[in-house]
Amino acid sequence: MLAARHIVSRGATSCVRAWVRAPRAATTSLLLTAPHVQRREVTTSERSGGKAAQGTVHYQAASVTVASTVPLTATAMMQVCWEGGGTDVYPYVWLRDNCQCSICFHPVSKMRKLLVEDLQLGVSPSDIQVVDSGRVIEVLWSDGHLATYPATWLHQRAFNTHKRDLRNNTVRSKPTLWGKELLENLPRASFPELLQDDSALLQFLQQLESHGLVVVSDTPTKLGQLHRLSDRVAYLSRSHYGETFIVESKNDPINLAYTAAKLEMHSDIPSRKYKPCIQMLHCIRQFHGEGGDNQLTDGFQVSHNFRTLHPDKFHILATTPVDFIDIGVEDGRDFFLVNHDPMIRLDINGQIQSVNFNQFSRDSYFRVPVEEVAGWYDAMKTFRDMVNDNQYCIEYKMKDGDILVFDNFRLLHGRKAYTIEGERVLEGGYWEWDDVLSRRRVLQAKLSNE
Ligand code: OGA
Ligand code: ZN
Ligand code: ZN
Repeated sequence: MLAARHIVSRGATSCVRAWVRAPRAATTSLLLTAPHVQRREVTTSERSGGKAAQGTVHYQAASVTVASTVPLTATAMMQVCWEGGGTDVYPYVWLRDNCQCSICFHPVSKMRKLLVEDLQLGVSPSDIQVVDSGRVIEVLWSDGHLATYPATWLHQRAFNTHKRDLRNNTVRSKPTLWGKELLENLPRASFPELLQDDSALLQFLQQLESHGLVVVSDTPTKLGQLHRLSDRVAYLSRSHYGETFIVESKNDPINLAYTAAKLEMHSDIPSRKYKPCIQMLHCIRQFHGEGGDNQLTDGFQVSHNFRTLHPDKFHILATTPVDFIDIGVEDGRDFFLVNHDPMIRLDINGQIQSVNFNQFSRDSYFRVPVEEVAGWYDAMKTFRDMVNDNQYCIEYKMKDGDILVFDNFRLLHGRKAYTIEGERVLEGGYWEWDDVLSRRRVLQAKLSNE
């Protein structure tokens, strides 16, 4: 085996080899979005007495270039020194696992072909070369494979906290928390524009991600409009209430939303383990007398402040699972849902992931030691009072043709009672965040390339 070698070869003879054309059949595209890119093709060629396996990489060379590399044997990492300053380190095993050549990675499915059984944990470089004026690093691995890493591709995937934060934000942008001030500047969109204009649609999806709420106006006041909007955004997510559902005062309602009564602030159907992510309420006919207004609160903002003001109560709500239940018949089909979840669900980093607040559907079975019950009620009531505080809670009465679109993991919503039954008609539906975020990323990539 060759000793790992640190070669600075910008403009050296290895460049010649780097630009040999590869057969068309075995290629991999690395689409890099950096400015002033120029499409290039690099072939990893046979080296070291024909030992290296070959693959081909297409990439778009960009402005980031490598000055030199240093193999760090003690930590099994390669240090990359960037032209213009700064260094990053990359574990050998990660580099080998992420070779983008056509042997290791499928260019059409964009999936890794390399099998775990073929990945050696102790893999190390036998040879490292910086080629193509610093735009590419070639590594001959101890398993005999010759891999090529474009500098820009590596730079984007650096493990430093700045790059990781950038990626976190690209995958899912950070929420902009809000209180009552949002009412002066409600995020808005126009239904006809959303159907036709991709930039308007992207802005709508970005607002939904950042604020968890958008009011869409000028929607035709008849059923079926959520399907039209969904054709532009994401599949409607079907629940036990159907693909969409009509919210109006009904005889023998299977849900309190189907009455004219006041609806306490809540999240929708936490009785499902995978409760709906995003809720839409299309106002086909609003109640024109007193009542029927909606209340909306940013549950992340409230939970955040609740955590600071009442850490012990926060701990109780974040660690005590309660049962949410939903029993009934919809469309001739019986349902019986039970979900066991804390009111405030945290992610693995301790960040607030979801607020499950629903007084109507919390079960009378409470599966906790009896001495914990009173403390839980105390914490829940404090939280409820903050959710309803007009420092956080906004009131908005939908107009005919509005659609309220909001994050059901984050916002709590309520409704004022109205009096004359049957005069108010909404159509409701849900989307999943996976599909909505996917659409936002697709649109963002498409529009940034235009
Ligand atoms: C619902 C709901 C609010 C309203 O259907 O989930 O909360 O304004 N409706 O009727
Ligand atoms: Zn490879
Ligand atoms: Zn609701």
